[in-house]
Amino acid sequence: MAYYDVIAKGYNELHRGEQLNKLSIIKENIKINKNTKILDVGCGTGISSGFECFVAGIDPSIGLLRQNKNGKKILGAAESLPFKANSFDYVISVTAIHSFKNIRKSMEEMKRVGKGNFVFSILKKSGKFGYIKKMIEEKFRIWKAVEEGKDTIFFCRAKSLE
Ligand SMILES: C[S@@+](CC[C@H](N)C(=O)[O-])C[C@H]1O[C@@H](n2cnc3c(N)ncnc32)[C@H](O)[C@@H]1O
Repeated sequence: MAYYDVIAKGYNELHRGEQLNKLSIIKENIKINKNTKILDVGCGTGISSGFECFVAGIDPSIGLLRQNKNGKKILGAAESLPFKANSFDYVISVTAIHSFKNIRKSMEEMKRVGKGNFVFSILKKSGKFGYIKKMIEEKFRIWKAVEEGKDTIFFCRAKSLE
């Protein structure tokens, strides 16, 4: 069984507080209205999907997705997003990218399905932090980086929009 399915039952109890703090920082920094469409990649139990607009969440862990009450849930992986290009106003990924099997392919997929605005919250202690940051810089323009307890939250725009 995959790691996140093993810990699924205790996930919210362990992580809800810290993930809600990241969500509130994201909400303070992006503009949404009731027509905004958000994709949450690696949405897990949906803590990071708590926006007052349409949210689709995708995650490979059935155990976490079963607890997800926020928005439309899709069982799947970041490396192959089942959406057309330019489908979402915001593509976000909260404390998840370090878990993706193919980070480069996942970043390309997130860029493809987004219209131009992206938020990536990256676990600072991950050994892949430097690699992920480099890849974000390669593909996006970071307009703000917020240091949160365990994560750095990067607010980005597609370079093609500049
Ligand atoms: C620390 S959890 C974060 C969950 C959620 N974003 C939150 O803030 O609570 C990391 C998530 O990444 C998901 N994940 C792992 N590999 C993935 C992949 N290849 N594509 C999408 N999500 C993946 C896990 O199943 C897990 O839900």
